[in-house]
Amino acid sequence: MHPPLRPWAARLAAGALAVSLLPLAPTTASATPVVAPSPTAVPAAAPEAVDGGRSVGDSLFPTTGNTGYDVRHYKIALAYAADGSISATTTIEAKAERRLASFSFDLEGLTVDRVRVDGRDATFRRAADKLVVTPARAAGGRFVVEVRYHGRPVTHIDPDGAQDGWIPSTTGATALSEPVGAQTWFPNNNTPRDKAAFDVALTVPKKLAAASNGVLRSRRTAHGQTTWTWRQRQPMATYLSLVAIGRFDVYRSTVKLQHGRRIPAWTFVEPGLGSAQAQRKLLPEVLAFSEKQYGRYPFDATGMVIQKLDVGYALETQTRPFFDGVPDDLTLVHEVAHQWFGDSVTPRDWGDIWLNEGFASYAEDNWAAEHGGPTTWQAFQKVYDENKASSDLWTPAPNALTEAKDLFSDPVYTRGGLALEALRHRIGDQEMKTLLRTWTKRYEGQTVRTSQFVALAEQVSDEDLGAFFRTWLEVAAKPPGY
Ligand code: TRP
Ligand code: ZN
Repeated sequence: MHPPLRPWAARLAAGALAVSLLPLAPTTASATPVVAPSPTAVPAAAPEAVDGGRSVGDSLFPTTGNTGYDVRHYKIALAYAADGSISATTTIEAKAERRLASFSFDLEGLTVDRVRVDGRDATFRRAADKLVVTPARAAGGRFVVEVRYHGRPVTHIDPDGAQDGWIPSTTGATALSEPVGAQTWFPNNNTPRDKAAFDVALTVPKKLAAASNGVLRSRRTAHGQTTWTWRQRQPMATYLSLVAIGRFDVYRSTVKLQHGRRIPAWTFVEPGLGSAQAQRKLLPEVLAFSEKQYGRYPFDATGMVIQKLDVGYALETQTRPFFDGVPDDLTLVHEVAHQWFGDSVTPRDWGDIWLNEGFASYAEDNWAAEHGGPTTWQAFQKVYDENKASSDLWTPAPNALTEAKDLFSDPVYTRGGLALEALRHRIGDQEMKTLLRTWTKRYEGQTVRTSQFVALAEQVSDEDLGAFFRTWLEVAAKPPGY
């Protein structure tokens, strides 16, 4: 049930973690003198502008994310040249929480050519994977930032040694953005707590295809270049953004969902891997199974990207999961379950990652149980019995991570999944179904913390589950008594 090494978990050797703590940019008042209002002045002086902060205080990624604004929309127009370089413009529409004298985005590598805020040239500087922007006039309310940039994007190396971000392939490049790789190909607020809609236009040599998230709005060829324009209408965390440029066989179909809803499926398969017909046929079945378990599919498109990139993991890129080669059934089930758990309902903090991986792992066991495998309780007992108290499975506890290198570790995936089966065992099958469906519905499109899941579980079951969740999620020891 829980193979020791799942395909998406075939990992590179763990690298040493070196998180450099960027000093929190204090939101100091700007030096701009504010004219003291005379007693007779009728309109109140505009509130003093402040500098946005350069960290959101994530428990595992202290240097990513920025404060002072909330991104509503990213529009990315990116041209890819055959030599592997890009030139792009990212237009960010955001809402300022207060008037901002300056603010920042996450951006790693690349050369910035120009920044405009609300149509006026702004000054900018680069500082340790940040792009710091000082607009000509303080930004307030809704503001629009246009960043023009170019270069050869870098690949990001994760704390656990895995690659993400922009990854060159044999015929193009693929961008996988979990946890922080999004900053290698566009400037953004790189934290799961700031979700936004996306429009992505990819201009590529016409022999190549170009995938991203959501619905394909248009595909136009001119002067030997094709522009593929994608739209992700539902809010998306930056870590779920996807680009796959290269030679692909492209399959378009329509998938029927619950209540007669029809959505487009776009699947990109690297030539040489076959047609992935079985997986393309399985996808609608997995979507139907998931809708039955978790409720309405939260997006308006689906599909897959299947490509041997040798990153050693699959990824739940929103609407269109990525597979590092033709996936087996359980890997497909896992990534589809993430569309509810992670993509639609998104952890606010990386320390809450078990809300993604525990749930997607549990989905695999539920699928297996309905398709000739052991029951979820049998699966639980097997893993529980096979892992003695000294096993690495129990440490660290899933919701008590202190190091980013443990984000995709067995305790998060497998122990996280076990916690959910133990919860079902405790509160009952019907209550568990209600809990999962209520969770996905109540927090659809939003960001969440583990405490909200605990509160909902207590509400649905009408039980005090404090000790239960502490044992399963916070104590670095094998939960006793099963
Ligand atoms: N979130 C992915 C999944 O479980 C796995 C993943 C993403 C991963 N990035 C990784 C695993 C880096 C190991 C290393 O579907
Ligand atoms: Zn996963």
